[in-house]
Amino acid sequence: MNAPEFARGLPRAETPPLDASDAPTALHAPAGASIPASSSALVSASISDTFFETVDATRTTHTRRAQHDAAAPTVLFVDQSGQLGGAEFALLPLAEHHAASGEVVLLSEGPFRAKLEALGVTVRMRVDARVSGISRQSLRFGWLRALPALARQTIGLARDARRHDVVFANTQKALVLAALGKPLHRRPLIWYQHDILSGEHFGRMQLTIVKWLVRLAVDQVIANSRASAHSLVALTGCKPESIRVVHNGIDSAAFLPPRAAEADAAAAPSEADGTDVRALRERLGLPANAWIAGLFGRLAPWKGQHVALDALARLPDTHLVLVGTPLFGEQDYERQLREQAEALGIAGRVHFVGFQHDIPSWMRAMDVILHTSTSAEPFGRVVVEGMAAGRAVIAAAAGGVPEIVSHRRNGWLVTPGDVAGLVQAIETLRDDPALRQRLALAAREDARTRFSVQRYLDSMNRAIGEAARSARG
Ligand code: UDP
Ligand code: GLC
Repeated sequence: MNAPEFARGLPRAETPPLDASDAPTALHAPAGASIPASSSALVSASISDTFFETVDATRTTHTRRAQHDAAAPTVLFVDQSGQLGGAEFALLPLAEHHAASGEVVLLSEGPFRAKLEALGVTVRMRVDARVSGISRQSLRFGWLRALPALARQTIGLARDARRHDVVFANTQKALVLAALGKPLHRRPLIWYQHDILSGEHFGRMQLTIVKWLVRLAVDQVIANSRASAHSLVALTGCKPESIRVVHNGIDSAAFLPPRAAEADAAAAPSEADGTDVRALRERLGLPANAWIAGLFGRLAPWKGQHVALDALARLPDTHLVLVGTPLFGEQDYERQLREQAEALGIAGRVHFVGFQHDIPSWMRAMDVILHTSTSAEPFGRVVVEGMAAGRAVIAAAAGGVPEIVSHRRNGWLVTPGDVAGLVQAIETLRDDPALRQRLALAAREDARTRFSVQRYLDSMNRAIGEAARSARG
């Protein structure tokens, strides 16, 4: 039997096939292996840039807000979360670009709504506690109780969708509602897949639901990395070439120190880029003279903050700043981290600073930036942001991360969960400022060119345009 395509196969134009040899499993180094030693294999297994459309961000004008064009498709974006997670940050520039004619439907209240509205985006709330309450744990029976509410939300969303040309689901619950309502709204459905769909992250029931909805109702999947795309191919048996891969775009200019952003974007990172690190640290309440590693992201077991604490216990002169809070009920994990820091005798060198809005300043206050996810990271915005901030990034080599970081060229890769490897990587970079500087320079250039917001918007808008045209024609 042929591998299924997505519903109503849309043109798959510019995306060449996924190469089976890049299967995500190939990106996992064996437990305990030292990445620096084995990195060439890893890097060669990483993703070829030619796979993606590359747009030179330096030569394109930054057109965040679409000129109102009557012929341009109007888009209904749907997101289940009110919280500020990576998927929501990814949606912001796209929703802003479509603000003149598009709308965003949110299925939960939270700070995401205000962020969208501040950008001039029309937000419609469709909140139902019974539907929001369906979680991985309650999936087996919870959805039965929530059925009437689910039906109401599906119908409401279908009504919203009928005012637009294309429906863009940005999360899995958004996908469920938009897919169930498709017989009512009959609009092309795009799903931006932000997750690696494997048993490591999700239950069997959830994966089965996603698999069938994608097969039956989605017109175009856009994956946030090749690793995420591979996981969908493995789950659904769909053709690799039917999935587009569009990496998140990051506004690099926002990560430069104000003076360098105005004057010379090519200036060297760190103190030389215009950042007065001492003053910055004083403002942020961080020790001015310490050697500081920063770890950015929500506090959650799979983000691996505990790995960084274990490493810190073996690095007596180093401080660690944890930026982020639990976003999805992982308060127990935060408590465990604080207990772990106490038990290891490093509490004085670990700074829990909670959720921060000015991520560029916090990143520039660091000597090095860590990424420690123990499960494959689907993409990893924080990795690109650290690069854009002109800091050397040490990142866990799994999932989408090797698509961003090339070991020793624009960053440093370590084996996920390998404490000894992380200690060694931090020591190597701490003892070699010239190396740090070289990595940071290459990193900043990559962030600016390969992960620009313009490239991201161009790719997304091409997919949206094709979806709308295929429905009309
Ligand atoms: N972030 C933030 N404030 C914080 C911690 C994180 O604004 O205190 C942002 C961070 O800059 C990044 C996003 O949250 O843009 C996290 O996205 P990522 O893709 O790294 O991880 P996710 O949480 O989506 O898995
Ligand atoms: C998800 C993933 C993260 C990714 C983000 C944006 O939240 O966990 O890795 O960077 O989506 O695509």
